[in-house]
Formats: sequence, C-alpha cells, structure tokens
Amino acid sequence: MIARFAALPVLAVLAACQTAEPEPVAEANPEDHALAQAACGSCHSVEPYGLSPNPEAPEWPAIANRRGLTRETLTTWLVDAHNYPVDMDFYLEDDEVQQLVDYMLTLRREDYHPPY
Ligand code: HEC
Repeated sequence: MIARFAALPVLAVLAACQTAEPEPVAEANPEDHALAQAACGSCHSVEPYGLSPNPEAPEWPAIANRRGLTRETLTTWLVDAHNYPVDMDFYLEDDEVQQLVDYMLTLRREDYHPPY
C-alpha cells in the first residue's frame, strides 16, 4: 500500500507532461536567441526542436541536455575550444559566451528526447 501511494505524484507529473508542451526551464532572452541564430544557426539547430542544417553539428538541445553539462563546462568549452572543430573557428567576446551559454541552457528539458 505504501509503495502504491508513493508512486502517485510521479504519475501525476508524467500525465502533466503528456498533455502540455514542455515548458522552458527559463525564458530565452530574445537577444541571446538572435545571437545564437546569427552566429551558430548556419550549422546548428539552436531551436528547441528540429535538425541542424549541418548534419555534423549537434542540435543545441542535444548538447544542452547532455548529462554532465553545466554552465561551467559549456563556458570553458566555448572560451577554450573556439577553433575545434576547424569549422567553428570563431572568436567570442566574454559577454557573447555568456549570452550563448544562457540561451543554450534554456533548451534544457526534464523530459528531453533526442530528435532521432
Ligand atoms: C560552420 C559550422 C558551425 C558553426 C557556425 C558553429 N558550429 Fe558548433 N559545431 C559544429 C560541428 C561540426 C560540431 C561537432 C564537432 C564534433 O563532433 O567533433 C560542433 C560542436 C559544437 C559543440 C560541442 C558539442 C559536443 O559534442 O560537445 C558546441 C558546444 C558548439 N558546437 C557550439 C557552437 C556555438 C556556440 C556556435 C556559435 C558561436 C557554433 N557552435 C557554431 C559546427 C559549427
């Protein structure tokens, strides 16, 4: 009996997810989104859904929802690895890195499923 009751709140949460569009964890700032689209959108899908224009480039939700990814790891990656792969040979100002990290983290979802 106890175990059965304990499972009820979980079921309620799952039911809520099925009926509603997944809610963003945080609202995306339109300027951050615009920068992501302009700087990165030619290769990556930076939207919550959809496939990347460049099939080699992971969709941003896939990056954002990767286990172990944090604000720190993503920031370090963007600051240090700006020319890896060679395709991504760009230079980002610190505030641009922050904007891109902020935006990418809004793509995190509790119930994320890879698009393929
Ligand atoms: C010219 C194409 C191109 C552009 C523009 C581009 N990327 Fe990428 N990006 C790639 C490719 C290809 C990979 C996959 C590299 C790999 O798997 O080795 C990648 C990988 C990444 C990764 C790592 C994903 C992982 O597997 O850990 C991050 C983070 C990332 N890109 C962020 C960005 C950001 C932020 C921008 C814009 C400032 C950007 N990219 C612009 C092509 C691009």
